[in-house]
Amino acid sequence: MAVVGPGALGSLFARRLSKTVPTAVIGRGATNIPQADWVIILVKAYDTAAAVRVARRMKPKGIVSLQNGLIEEVPQGVTTAAAYREGRRVVPVATGLTLLPPGFEVLARILRRAGFDARIARDIRAARLKKLLANVCLNPVTAVFAVRNGALRKPPYARFAEALAREAAPVLAAEGLRITPGEALRRVMEVAKATAGNRSSMLQDVMAGRKTEIDYLTGTLLRLARRHRLAVPTHSAFRQIIRIMEAR
Ligand SMILES: NC(=O)c1ccc[n+]([C@@H]2O[C@H](COP(=O)([O-])OP(=O)(O)OC[C@H]3O[C@@H](n4cnc5c(N)ncnc54)[C@H](OP(=O)(O)O)[C@@H]3O)[C@@H](O)[C@H]2O)c1
Repeated sequence: MAVVGPGALGSLFARRLSKTVPTAVIGRGATNIPQADWVIILVKAYDTAAAVRVARRMKPKGIVSLQNGLIEEVPQGVTTAAAYREGRRVVPVATGLTLLPPGFEVLARILRRAGFDARIARDIRAARLKKLLANVCLNPVTAVFAVRNGALRKPPYARFAEALAREAAPVLAAEGLRITPGEALRRVMEVAKATAGNRSSMLQDVMAGRKTEIDYLTGTLLRLARRHRLAVPTHSAFRQIIRIMEAR
């Protein structure tokens, strides 16, 4: 078993997995690459290509990404597990629910033995699109205004979440997700409620002066919107603002 990306979430998975199965943790620039049956990719989306190259060298039966954004290089699952870095320390927040694509039944069993609620989702594409919806509505707003997820449920931030959810819904529907604007907004509000006390990963990245995943979250939605000729002006504005914040 191997985890590529020894950051917040990678450490959470690797620590638990290593209690039940030998688990290699592969960091940036690793030179000793072991063989492994299953590889989980948990680098930031902008580091995916290099991580996938390393994962393939392990000659695994399967590689799965649990990253945010829509990853095309390898099969992708989704997870609501959460952790954050505090200096060199990794603070686990939740083991959450992890959905894997069909074909990863053995990995799901290994994860369950390690204490994760892991299941196969037959319609993993729908799960990935729903995760993208939550990410593009919660992350930019919390990062720009430096507020925790729960703040999105109330004025003045709720109006931004609402605009973002209503713009995203037709795009995701055009990609095959059965969702109306009203359902999209309800879903975003549910996630904001369930994770009310959390700082989104984009907010954490902004606070730590790190590059964000905006181009792989909002950027992906903008690409899909262009494909379907749909307007997403609020998403576009938030991407510009985050880019300006990154540049500073
Ligand atoms: N944290 C969460 O609660 C959470 C929840 C759900 C989804 N996610 C998603 O999971 C992914 C990882 O998030 P994270 O918060 O764990 O990020 P993170 O703390 O920044 O960890 C990423 C790790 O990957 C390492 N890395 C970068 N390039 C690499 C490479 N080529 N090979 C091996 N390791 C490499 C980084 O090393 P350096 O330190 O040297 O850069 C860092 O240790 C993101 O897509 C995120 O959106 C996170």
